[in-house]
Amino acid sequence: MDIDVSPTIKIEKTKHSKINEVDFDNLPFGQVLSDHMFVCDFKNGEWQQPKIIPYQNISLDPSSKIFHYGQSVFEGMKAYKDTHGKVLLFRPIDNQKRINISAKRLAMPELPEAYFMEGLKALLKLESDWIPTIDGSSLYIRPFVFATGNGFHASPANEYKFIIACSPSGAYFSGKLKVLIEQKYSRSANGGVGFAKAGGNYAGQFYPTQLAVEKGYQQVIWTDDHKHEYIEEAGAMNIFIRIGDTLITGPTSDRILDGITRKSIIEIAKDENIKVEVRKITVRELVEAAENGTLKEMFGAGTAAVISPISGFGYQDKDYDLPELENTYAARLKKRITDIQYNRAEDKFGWRVIIE
Ligand code: PLP
Ligand code: COI
Repeated sequence: MDIDVSPTIKIEKTKHSKINEVDFDNLPFGQVLSDHMFVCDFKNGEWQQPKIIPYQNISLDPSSKIFHYGQSVFEGMKAYKDTHGKVLLFRPIDNQKRINISAKRLAMPELPEAYFMEGLKALLKLESDWIPTIDGSSLYIRPFVFATGNGFHASPANEYKFIIACSPSGAYFSGKLKVLIEQKYSRSANGGVGFAKAGGNYAGQFYPTQLAVEKGYQQVIWTDDHKHEYIEEAGAMNIFIRIGDTLITGPTSDRILDGITRKSIIEIAKDENIKVEVRKITVRELVEAAENGTLKEMFGAGTAAVISPISGFGYQDKDYDLPELENTYAARLKKRITDIQYNRAEDKFGWRVIIE
């Protein structure tokens, strides 16, 4: 099969839609799955004919390499519906490119752009009734690729599966978000896989995050693995810090995920004439700003989390509260980005993609 041409997608529709069982007014995040999924297998060195089938269990050989060596990468995206019923995506090409960056790092086959984009569009056309319309909710989309090839030899698998599943979802965080600045564990290291959306990156965060939760925090802010001096990112979000009137975020590196929300926020902030600095920020600078009153805001930015304001942080057994401001940058930037995503405002950046 020529991988540059559009795939023919075989579609099998469900005979038993679950949509009437769903309470669209009270959606959790990522728990409810829609009726269909897109599936494409990689074998004999090429991607096979993709299909859309009713959402269902899959069966795998227990020696599949995903179970033993964790060859798995994923993306997180959202589909939005505007008040006229138009279905929209936000910068989907960036997710398509990033899944391939992740796949390459884990010695997995890259996906042709057409398989990702056309699979996504065909699936969304079928699942458009699953896109929630109440404020703050959307259809969370999870494209993922994992090793189905089997055998215990610790080497890349020769077979993989690419699936796109959809989950009508509400907010990722609820309530106040207090974070702990990590001083012992590391999420990633130089030369590692931190920049990839690899499943194992998240597994490695669970234990330190559990410890933080036991202490009353909801998330860990990762610091550099060398001396824990620099602020890096949170479990599922990039981090922004406002000191005085300047918005600061760390540069991406091979330890940090190059977030699509992050780079959009940087552009929107500049467009709003907010002074933005992309530079390394030390924990010391953050603590000093909290102590001398110049620390105004901290927030996380990500597809699932959108823009999530942080109410306080813990560092070396001491808690620092952030002020409760009116007219925050977080609220202003969240309005700008969600107005673009939900088609409520002009998209001067050309980020919105309408699914016709
Ligand atoms: N950092 C990590 C570790 C993430 O998992 C995510 C979520 O995807 C982000 C940052 C934010 O990235 P994006 O804005 O592309 O969703
Ligand atoms: C996303 O924001 O889409 C992510 O992938 C984060 C995820 C771990 C919930």
